[in-house]
Order: sequence, then C-alpha cells, then structure tokens
Amino acid sequence: MPALGYERARRAANLSTHHNTFGGMHDPKLAFAASHRSTPLIDLRSDTVTRPTPAMREAMARAEVGDDVFGEDPTVRALEAEIARLAGKQAALFVSSGTMGNQLAIALHTRPGDEIIVGDGAHPAFYESGAAPVLSGVQFAFAGAGGLFDADAMEAAIKPRAYWCPRTSLVCVENTHNRAGGRVFPQSAIIAIADRARTHGLGVHLDGARLWNASAATGVPIDQLCAPFDTVSLCFSKGLGAPVGSALVASHEHIERARRLRKMWGGGMRQVGILAAAALHALEHHRARLQDDHDHARELAQRVAGAPGLHVDLAGVETNIVNIDTDAPAEQIAARARQAGVLVNATGPRRVRAVLHLDVSAAEARAAAEQLAQAAAQP
Ligand SMILES: Cc1ncc(COP(=O)(O)O)c(C=O)c1O
Repeated sequence: MPALGYERARRAANLSTHHNTFGGMHDPKLAFAASHRSTPLIDLRSDTVTRPTPAMREAMARAEVGDDVFGEDPTVRALEAEIARLAGKQAALFVSSGTMGNQLAIALHTRPGDEIIVGDGAHPAFYESGAAPVLSGVQFAFAGAGGLFDADAMEAAIKPRAYWCPRTSLVCVENTHNRAGGRVFPQSAIIAIADRARTHGLGVHLDGARLWNASAATGVPIDQLCAPFDTVSLCFSKGLGAPVGSALVASHEHIERARRLRKMWGGGMRQVGILAAAALHALEHHRARLQDDHDHARELAQRVAGAPGLHVDLAGVETNIVNIDTDAPAEQIAARARQAGVLVNATGPRRVRAVLHLDVSAAEARAAAEQLAQAAAQP
C-alpha cells in the first residue's frame, strides 16, 4: 500500500469517537468519507493525538534500558531525576498515564470512606472511569463553579469533623483546567487554597497534566507552580507530544509508597527507558514551542468567535484549548466539521472543544476555523 494510502487508512481507523466525551458514536460512513479525502485531517480532538516525530523515535531507539522494576533502567532514572529537579521536589516516579499519577496521589492522601475536594469537571471526577471510588474508596465534593475555585469555596466544601460525615482529606487542583478550556489556575488562589487546606490538615495535590502550558502562558517556572503542593502529576503525552507517560513528583516518602502501589496496580514496567527517552526528548525539544499552540488557539478562537452560530469567551482562551459554544447541537457541528476534515469533540450539548498541538500548523488552525464556521453556517 502506498505511504499516503496507509496514512489515510490509519487516520480513518483513528476516527473512532470513543474519545468523544459527550456521547457520539463512530459513524462508518463519515469515517469512509474522511478516509477518502484528498486533504489531510486536522485533528483537534485532543493534544494526546500527536505522533512521535522521527527525532523522538530515534531517541527512543537509542535509549539505554534496564529492568525498571529492579530500578535498573538508566533512562528512567535520568528522567525521574530531571523531572524532580524541574518540579523542585525530592523524587519522581515515571507512570503510565496522568490517570495513574492522579490515582496514586489520591491513594497516598486518603483512606476508604474519605472525601476529596475537586473543582467542577475535574479530570479524576469526570474522565478517570470512576477510579477514585474504586481504587481508594473515596467520594468527591465539588468546590466553586466552572473548574477554578478559591480558598473560601474550598473551605465551604470541607465536611464537619463528625464521625457520621466522610472525612475530608485532600484537595485537588487542576492546572491548566481541561474542561474549563485550558484556563490557568491563578497562582495566588492556589497558594491561598494550599495554606487554608493545611490549616485543616488536608493534603494538596496538583493535576498538572498541562502544567507545561500554564508555565508557558505565565512565564512562572514549573518548580514555583509546584511549590504549594504535596504531590503533582505531570504528563508528557499531552502538549509535549510524547506517546506515553506521566510523572508523579513528591517527597521521597510519598514516592516510595507510590512505587509500591504502582506495582500493586500492575504499573511496574520493565525496559521502559524506551518511553522515558521520548519524554526526555519532549522536554528538551517540545517545551519551548508550546507558545505556538497557544498562539494558534487564540487565532482559531478569534476567527471562530466572529462566525454566526459560534461563540467563544476570548478572555478564557489562555493556552491551547478552545471551548466553542454552538447554537446548533454540538454533535451536528462536530459531524459536519468531520466531513470537511476537521475533528473536534462535542463536550456538551452545545459545546465543542478544539485543542491545538504539535501536529497542527498555523495554516491548519486557520483552515479549521474556516471549516467550523462553515459547519455552523449550514442550515
Ligand atoms: C487534566 C488532565 N488530567 C489527567 C489526564 C489523564 O491523562 P491520561 O490520559 O494520560 O490518563 C488528562 C488527560 O487528558 C487531563 O486532561
């Protein structure tokens, strides 16, 4: 099969809408149409859809490896040392996913029957398959509205210390906030939340899957963004463009407990330096370009905001995610855009989400905005 045909078939296979967070089934007719397009797809469903670059693959192929369950993989060790240094924490643990990073942190800070405070639409509550109640036996309490919250809202969500109430033991912050459209959580609010949480004896965890984007947008270094937290989960497989992997950073004590839990949950990996090499490559070569994604997101948002039937809160577009509110049903807009070669997720009945990343150029961002406008203009 010629290279281009293979590429199209592969992209068509990727069209399954299992990532479509607001329902929406795979439509074979649309997939067929998309796979026979003469122009390539522009995939804005998530920044997780990037493919490793040739240089990243080369770094992976060259990686020195060993058995990481025995602590003998030099590339994993190098990555963990580097990420702990960047985050300003004592230690780091390479894990398979952001979900595993968050779930390990939740398990470290809680006991069964506890309650954890999160913002509206928080990833562990919305997108982690119900893991926290199952793996740690905890339930969620929600602070504030829209994802971001302040210390007062956090405090209001703490349950009274009575034996008939769940014990509130952890607060989780998400920065940037995915469902809030890549919003940066203000650091002043974070510091106040963490200080207040500690007066109540709570642990403080950061879901920093896209902390790289928050750092790029604000110019605040990663270690400063991590400083108020006991535990932080950081992802390499979002904007940084690595195929797999996240890290949990924390104290030596927390990381040693997390290492044991990771093994217990089946996450002990062997010659995983191949993946750590991709993460190291991403840190070295892809971090500096994140502002490009933010610029592309802004340009797309500005173009879409002027289109009839589409609405964007431009002030809320701070990083690489654009939430677009639609007059027509979101599934309809997403389906029409898909026919025109642009993939977006419907994330609500009248909301689609476009995520900019490494594999989307400025010209593609502009073309996607045009196709979304056309999708909304159809009667
Ligand atoms: C904010 C946030 N946290 C955690 C995750 C989980 O990452 P993973 O898909 O690697 O489990 C994601 C995934 O998109 C995310 O957006």
